Amino acid sequence: MALPASDLSKVADNLTTMELGAVLPKTAEVRDGHLYIGGVDMVALAKEQGTALYVFDEADLRYRMESYLDAFRSRYENSDIVFASKAFLNKAILKIISELGLCLDVSGGGELYTAAQAGFPMERLVVHGNNKTPAELEEAIVGGAGRIVVDSRIELSRVSEIAAKHNITQDIYMRITPGIEADTHAYIQTGCEDSKFGFTMREDWAFSCIKDALETPNVVLKGLHMHIGSQIFAMHSYREAIRVMVEMMSRIKETYGHVIEELDIGGGLGVAYTATDKPTSIDDFADVVTTAVKDFCGEYNLDLPRLLTEPGRSLVANAGVTLYTVGILKTLPGIRKFVAVDGGMTDNIRTALYHADYEPVIANKADQPRTEIVTLCGKHCESGDAVVIDMPIQTPEIGDIVCVFATGAYNSTMASNYNGQPRPGIVFVKDGQARLVTRRETYEDLLARDLG
Ligand code: LLP
Repeated sequence: MALPASDLSKVADNLTTMELGAVLPKTAEVRDGHLYIGGVDMVALAKEQGTALYVFDEADLRYRMESYLDAFRSRYENSDIVFASKAFLNKAILKIISELGLCLDVSGGGELYTAAQAGFPMERLVVHGNNKTPAELEEAIVGGAGRIVVDSRIELSRVSEIAAKHNITQDIYMRITPGIEADTHAYIQTGCEDSKFGFTMREDWAFSCIKDALETPNVVLKGLHMHIGSQIFAMHSYREAIRVMVEMMSRIKETYGHVIEELDIGGGLGVAYTATDKPTSIDDFADVVTTAVKDFCGEYNLDLPRLLTEPGRSLVANAGVTLYTVGILKTLPGIRKFVAVDGGMTDNIRTALYHADYEPVIANKADQPRTEIVTLCGKHCESGDAVVIDMPIQTPEIGDIVCVFATGAYNSTMASNYNGQPRPGIVFVKDGQARLVTRRETYEDLLARDLG
């Protein structure tokens, strides 16, 4: 795969680091020309820990979690925030999530295992996946997972059989595809009709499967679930989808006499990846969602359900940055300027996969204006291996420490070992202290599974 052609007419924005606005982690600051996060010098940290390195601003993480809890609970008492662990997962984040009282979305046995190993309360788990294996379902059911989100008719029977085998009654949600096209990249739209996720509403399939669920032993249909996509800026998509869900709750009550007590509206709130992105705030998102649930429940004369929201990206993206060291500079006259860093598609696949945009700065020149347009390419054997395409940066030199912002979501969790690249370590910074919470992979780790 080749890179998209460089736009040679693009001019540098001359912005300095602190002018990048919403992409910055909360505690970002510049001291003596260096970028500091959490009171820690990113240049010194890069030298000490090596690069590529993921760094998270713990104050930013906590701030966003608390903002979500406040935004929803101040408007809607019976509500919970469920962190989507696919966005970012390790024991350190689980500790914060558990401490602040959030719930956790896990997809698959590995995420479930991580939560269990970290001592996360199992009753606060919401278990997802369109093809959970029987073994994964058993781990979830026997492990005491609070809610399993049933994704298909086949899975409904599987959950029932496994629960019966262990003499357990399992609380479930059913994931409904509300048929709403969220305004985002097609690969991360999930609520539209042509989706592998959930029960389609076509030919009233979802509604007839709900009847089956009510008649199925060893499961209790507690709630309905929807997730319309990710990186969503247009809030009207939520209101439209919530109307569909509440209508469904009303039909279930009228026709089957069953009250749906919980409604999980999924995740998807967009974040700022570039200085010009203007995402909806957590407060405004909460306002749209809670107003819609109240409006439509009022309209259909339903008691308000427990309301769950499943943010991933909007809790962690802007808290995280990636640090790299510049190794090679290469100018292709009339084509583009490459700045090669010591990572790439192995630590950030989003640029290759979605043509995602990011804002880079040089951490040791953080007070200087970004005067050049460059492509930050990786070190891997693939032409499309780039972290940042055609973005402004300060004049780069060999040995500079580059910081790429807003890499906290879906970067470490989608990292790979292509070209035998060990995955980066993860550092949490706070109050002037740096804490290595996930160590960098070693070459030995690469061979750990190899039996010869
Ligand atoms: N709930 C469910 C059921 C989900 O499938 C997802 C994300 C979320 C919640 C969290 O959505 P968020 O708030 O993070 O938008 N790899 C892609 C994103 C894939 C999202 C998958 N599902 C990316 O890097 O943009």
